[in-house]
Amino acid sequence: MNELEAKIRIDQLTHQLQQHNYNYYILSQPTVSDFDFDQQLKELEALENQFPNLVHPDSPTRKVGGGITKEFVQVKHKYPMLSLGNTYSEQELQDFDERVRKGLGQEKVEYVVELKFDGLAISITYENGKLVRAVTRGDGVQGDDVTLNVKTIKTIPHQLPPGDYPDTFEIRGEILMHRKTFESLNEAYRKELEAKGYDEDEIRERLYKNPRNFASGTLKMQDSAEVAKRPLDCFLYFVNSEQQVVETHFASLQKAQQWGFQTGPFARVCHSIDEVMDFVHEFDTKRETLSYDIDGVVLKVNNYAQQQELGFTAKNPRWAISYKYKAQSALTQLQKVTYQVGRTGAITPVANLTPVVLAGTTVKRASLYNADEMDRLDLFEGDWVFVEKGGEIIPKITAVDVSKRQPDAHKIVYQTQCPECGTTLVRKEGEVVHYCPNETGCAPQLIGKIEHFVGRKAMNIDSLGEETITGLYTKGLISTYADLYALTAEQLIGLEFETYNEKKDTYSKRSLQEKSVVNMLQGIEASKQVPFERVLFALGIRMVGETVAKKLARHFITLDKLAAASKEEIAGIYEIGEKIAEQVTRFFADEVNVKICERLNHYGLQLEVVEEEGVERTNKLGGKSFLVSGTFTLSRDELKKMIEVNGGRNVGSISKSLNYLIAGDKMGPEKLKKATDLNIPIISEEEFKAMVE
Ligand code: IVH
Repeated sequence: MNELEAKIRIDQLTHQLQQHNYNYYILSQPTVSDFDFDQQLKELEALENQFPNLVHPDSPTRKVGGGITKEFVQVKHKYPMLSLGNTYSEQELQDFDERVRKGLGQEKVEYVVELKFDGLAISITYENGKLVRAVTRGDGVQGDDVTLNVKTIKTIPHQLPPGDYPDTFEIRGEILMHRKTFESLNEAYRKELEAKGYDEDEIRERLYKNPRNFASGTLKMQDSAEVAKRPLDCFLYFVNSEQQVVETHFASLQKAQQWGFQTGPFARVCHSIDEVMDFVHEFDTKRETLSYDIDGVVLKVNNYAQQQELGFTAKNPRWAISYKYKAQSALTQLQKVTYQVGRTGAITPVANLTPVVLAGTTVKRASLYNADEMDRLDLFEGDWVFVEKGGEIIPKITAVDVSKRQPDAHKIVYQTQCPECGTTLVRKEGEVVHYCPNETGCAPQLIGKIEHFVGRKAMNIDSLGEETITGLYTKGLISTYADLYALTAEQLIGLEFETYNEKKDTYSKRSLQEKSVVNMLQGIEASKQVPFERVLFALGIRMVGETVAKKLARHFITLDKLAAASKEEIAGIYEIGEKIAEQVTRFFADEVNVKICERLNHYGLQLEVVEEEGVERTNKLGGKSFLVSGTFTLSRDELKKMIEVNGGRNVGSISKSLNYLIAGDKMGPEKLKKATDLNIPIISEEEFKAMVE
């Protein structure tokens, strides 16, 4: 193949594969089989190795699993991304209007008012209608190239249909996450962290604080496939180009909409500052009804010529300003402090309040987080408190109105007993959260363990939801996951229990129908075939997440051997360590857990690794990491499997900690250079085979 033929084929494959990735990751509607996709990818890889100068910068071969960018490339903005001057005061908005009219020598000036979206600014460049680059604001001068991630956002077009847009233009907007998406993803993330055995302190630290925070964490992720799983949205609000198509900002928004963009809704032309004020007031209440967060209103001079005349200060345009809404706050009375017990035994103090309307919703409760926070507030019984809804979903108490305190009121002392089971609470040194240590006898903890057990990545009994588990628990039918395997249709059909809706704070009755009981029992039966490593994960031993469970299962092969192992032996396994070993031995030292495991064995769960026929596992590679790159006599998958069955680890990229690079034919020059620079041993297929034979 000559260079021209190669170029044509590389362009074609690159384009096709990008489309396949989009169909697969974003639309979730693949149009080719995995096999065909892999074939095309291999063909492209081979051609790129042969003609490295023809590789597209955004080639699908540079991304692992649909788009891993190792690190973001910094791109300088063509037009610096300035911020806006902002104010919280209506008077200052009036002053702005005065300045603008004076500056222009006009009696009247037309403004456009828009919502100020609480997300992350993005600048997207289109060339001949094609999205070529998306860059974050960064420091305003240069930002991160996050093109691949931005392409996962459904409302951002990759290719515009023919239209009267400039050949090259930049469009700016705000990337955000809708509140509902945020709540459900954050909840799922909490469960994931719990399953990994994190402490409540760490969980709270890692959880995203608000939708903006989640959106920003998502946009900065290295793997676009992961980004695609966390739906983001984008509202566009500014077009920049050398060719001017229209004369006003509002017309540019209308044009952008015609070209296929989702522009910020509710943008409005105002003919006076009074009209602007009406908009500001209108959305101070309406903002609660939006599905996303806004933190204010942006005001822009509509006419481009006037914008130019006004120009810029060192930091901001003189033709625009933002008005920010204050966090809304309300004063109400504390009725009592109650304590919630989480799945992990973590205690959260909650302030129960006299209901008060705040930002459109009635607030009855606010989290007090932990004992330190209660000390900071210095709460007394019956105190009047200020509640505020900032960027965060749960309202919080910001201060106490001490002047309203009754002289004989008592200071509130943190509870010493678990409200669910009465056990004395503990607070570990250096932690702010109190725990109920009664893991094997405290209702929310027991229910939490069963929920974890049936989870998708554990035993995958999806016919058993949280409500049913709680119902079966309160009816006394289950108190550990082993009890699931003793359930019968007779016990379950027609069983009635109450369910509680936390959001609505209401109870309702449910009764189990035959069909769902059959499903449930079938799901439970099928779980007996789940492989040992997942059963081990399902047991819910603290700090034993999926990966650790896999390692332990492969090392010990049977549950009995693991249960009998010493702390030292477990800690000696690669990447396990003492903390995990401590938790594992603690688990098996508890008689209650031993009994449960015996019952699981009796019911026929998989408590040992079932070897695949003809595959012999060894530990010849002793946990060493390998990267397989290039083409070989064996397929790459076969090589990777050999690494795994011999106790090695496959990794996806070159880093300092890589132990070996197995280099095949046509390995990319970049990889070779990086490995050489980092002094990583590069071995051939033959050398590798010699290691395991
Ligand atoms: S206009 C020169 N319009 O607020 C024009 N910005 O402090 C610059 N923002 O960095 C931006 N909603 O991230 C504009 N409707 C809107 C906006 C908006 C949110 C953000 C944007 C900008 C910051 C300004």
